[in-house]
Order: sequence, then C-alpha cells, then structure tokens
Amino acid sequence: MSLVPMTHVALLPSSGMGHLTPFLRLAALLLHNQCHVTLITPQPTVTKSEEVLLSQFFSSFPQVNKIEFHLLPSNENDASATTDAFYLQFASIRRSSHLLSPLLASLSPPLSAFIYDMTLISPILPIVESLCVPHYILFTSSATMFSFFSYFPSVAASASSSDVVEIPEVAAIPRSSIPPLLLKPNSLFSKIFMEDSPKLKKLHGVLLNTFEGLEGNVLKALNNGKVVKELPPIYGVGPFAPCEFEKIEQNGVATPLSWLDDQPDGSVVYVSFGSRTAIGKDQIREIGEGLVRSGYKFLWVVKEKKVDREEGEGLDEVLGFELMKGIKENGLVVKKWVDQSEILSHKSVGGFVSHCGWNSVIEAAWFGVPIMGWPQIGDQKINAELISKGGWGVWKKEWGWEGECVVKGEEIGEAIKEMMNNESIGIKATQVKEAARNAISVGGGSMVAIQELKEVWKKKVENN
Ligand SMILES: *[C@@H]1O[C@H](CO)[C@@H](O)[C@H](O)[C@H]1NC(C)=O
Repeated sequence: MSLVPMTHVALLPSSGMGHLTPFLRLAALLLHNQCHVTLITPQPTVTKSEEVLLSQFFSSFPQVNKIEFHLLPSNENDASATTDAFYLQFASIRRSSHLLSPLLASLSPPLSAFIYDMTLISPILPIVESLCVPHYILFTSSATMFSFFSYFPSVAASASSSDVVEIPEVAAIPRSSIPPLLLKPNSLFSKIFMEDSPKLKKLHGVLLNTFEGLEGNVLKALNNGKVVKELPPIYGVGPFAPCEFEKIEQNGVATPLSWLDDQPDGSVVYVSFGSRTAIGKDQIREIGEGLVRSGYKFLWVVKEKKVDREEGEGLDEVLGFELMKGIKENGLVVKKWVDQSEILSHKSVGGFVSHCGWNSVIEAAWFGVPIMGWPQIGDQKINAELISKGGWGVWKKEWGWEGECVVKGEEIGEAIKEMMNNESIGIKATQVKEAARNAISVGGGSMVAIQELKEVWKKKVENN
C-alpha cells in the first residue's frame, strides 16, 4: 500500500463533441492536480471526431485507466421520441447505466469521486448511492443555463404560457430564448429535466466550466440558495484550457493555420457553427454572400451534415460558381473538424461568428476573441445573451433560431462589421480573457474550487 492516499476520480461523458471535449479537458486538469483518472467511454461513439479525439487523449495520457462501456442498442421507444443520433445515444446511455454498477465497484484503488454527464442523474443515482461514492455532474453549459435547469420544475407548467421566466437574482429569460425542446412537454429533454432536476439535492456537487469573471453573480446566487433551496455546492472550475492532445494531424496538406499566418493581425473573421449544427443550403449561400460583403478576410468552417460519417453535397454546387469565386479570393473554406482553439489563439483572428455553444464561448473567452452570436438550438440564446450583456460581442435577436427565417447576406455583413469595428467590444473581450486566466492562476476562484474538491475527496480516501 502506498503511504500517500491516491485520489481516484472516474469520469463518464455523454455523446457528442460538446459533451466529450469538456470532460477530456477536465480529465487533463485532474491529472495535472495529481488525481488518478478512470475514463469511461460509451461505445460506439456517434461520430468519427469523437473516436479520433478519444484515441489522441489516451495516447497522450497512457496513465489513464480506460473503460469501454458497451451500450445496449437504442430501442423503439427512443426512436419514437427522437430521430437525432445524439439524443438517441443519450437515451441509450441512460438505459444502459445499470451495466456500470459492477464496473465501478471493481475499480482499484476504490473511487474517491465519480463525475458524470448532466443528462445521467436519474439512472446513475441509485448506483453511486449503493457504492457510497461522492458523485458530481459536470454541467456542460453556462451557470445561467444550470440555474434554468435547477429552477425548471417550478416553471415548467407556466413556461409554455408566460412571456418571461424570472430566475431570482440570475436572469429574466424570455420565452423566445428557452431551448425549444424544453417547451415541448414530451420531448426527451423535457422529460430528463423534469425527472432529474428535483434530484440535484442528492448530488455532492455540480461542476461548471465557467468562472467568476464571466458568471460570478450567478455562481453566488446559486450557492446562496437564491435560485433553489437545497442545492449542493456549485463549483465554477473553468475555464477548461484547450489541451495539446486536441491538435489535429494535418499530414502535409495546406492547413488553416498556414493560411492564417499570411494574414495581418486581427484581420480575419472565423466562422463556425459547431460540431453538430448543419445549416440549410439557402442560409449557407447568404452567409457566403455576407462574408464577401463584410470586406474582411474569413476562415469558414462549413458543415452540411450533422453526423460526420455521412457524405454531403459539394460546396461548389451549394454556393454556385460566382459566389465561390468571391469566397476563394477573400477567405478559406474548411469542411472538416478543425482544432478551433488553434484558430482562436491565432493573432490574425479578430472575431468569431459562432452558434454560442458553451465550449465555443469559453474558448473565445480564453483567447479574448469578440463574438457575433448566432444561436441555432438549445441553450445558445441564453449563452448569446450573456455575451452581449457582457459587452464582448454582438447578438441580433431578431434572427431567431436556425431555420426560422433565412437571414440575408447584407444583414450578416453589417453585423460582422459591427463586431470587428467596435472598439469597446474588443476591449471588453480582452478583459474577459484576463479574468479567464486569473481564474485558473494560483488563488483564482476556479483553482480554489478544485482544491476544495480535492480536500473532500482526500477525506473519502482516508476513510476507506
Ligand atoms: C459598441 O458596442 C457596445 C457594446 O455592445 C455598444 O454599447 C455600443 O453602442 C457600440 N458602439 C457602436 C459605435 O456601435
């Protein structure tokens, strides 16, 4: 037996890069803080990108204990509720969770803590309670969205009828910003929220990839019981810094980075709507038009299919010859998964047209890049509001959700200019970056939170 008790933490992410990426960054953070880490990976993954990222992670951290969690196939019930490959996987993971019980019980050294995805509370709870392991969720969105999650059962009945949901001391969320699936009482997400939210008080804590400089007031309101009474401790442990293992091998082909190297500082607009949003063809054409009209250089990641294992139509056909010519003169179009943090960290990038998925928001904050928010689904309007309220970006509320209307190139071009030209937005973005870096420096709020957690886990080890 070793003399120093070994803190052993197991992590269980759910499907999609938006959930996997923060879990892997958290794993890296825990390894850096002298924890022994077990990573449980639901198999098979939905996308190739997830498979690649996992394999890069395990090559970089051979000391991590890897457990494959083979899921039960999705059933008819799930398929009747949703056709979305990611949501089907969420449902499969939930239905397969009981299989984890023997896996977790046999881990050695015994677990000091178990951190699992925000969508798994109900199925995981009985397992961890019988094993007496301190357990936490990693909520992979903003603290503001978490407030909504914790507050949801009390508003669910009225949310569909009232115009604004007033979360005490956090935000007034207009009905139009509520994730649309949560307005449908029978959607998979409404069911998960309704079933899981009241059980939050049974957790030992909630981890959030956020920090005081971004959502200090929200963290405070949550921990002071202003939102919901009886919440467990809420830990802001972000921003999770992008890691080395995420770098993508380019095999000698021209990379976005070498193109960026040739552009002047702060001159390029980076455009990406994340790992899972596929934009309609009409809108893709208008975005192309808008980018050319903005007059700025741009690096544009185009995704026409939600799941990267499927093949799409050629971009030339979607955009047409004329527009394609203008685009090639002014920018670079990329059609595969890119290492976003390498792009955002590049000095030539001056702004980010983003869907405002939480990981993208945090990465932009980390590198101090202003955002032109264009929310597409889910929690993204709530995140976009946080950015525009914070003054480090632009959000055109009237554009609505993805597919609600086709926004014209002219308007898009104007909004891009607004983000790139407004000096005050640039200054605010730099301040957010400083606050992000401070949070994870010695004595910073997030570092203190990690140390607190480690103290709790150490006691658990000593009592084993
Ligand atoms: C610049 O952005 C700030 C913050 O969003 C806004 O208040 C201000 O009106 C903008 N200035 C101009 C000239 O558009």
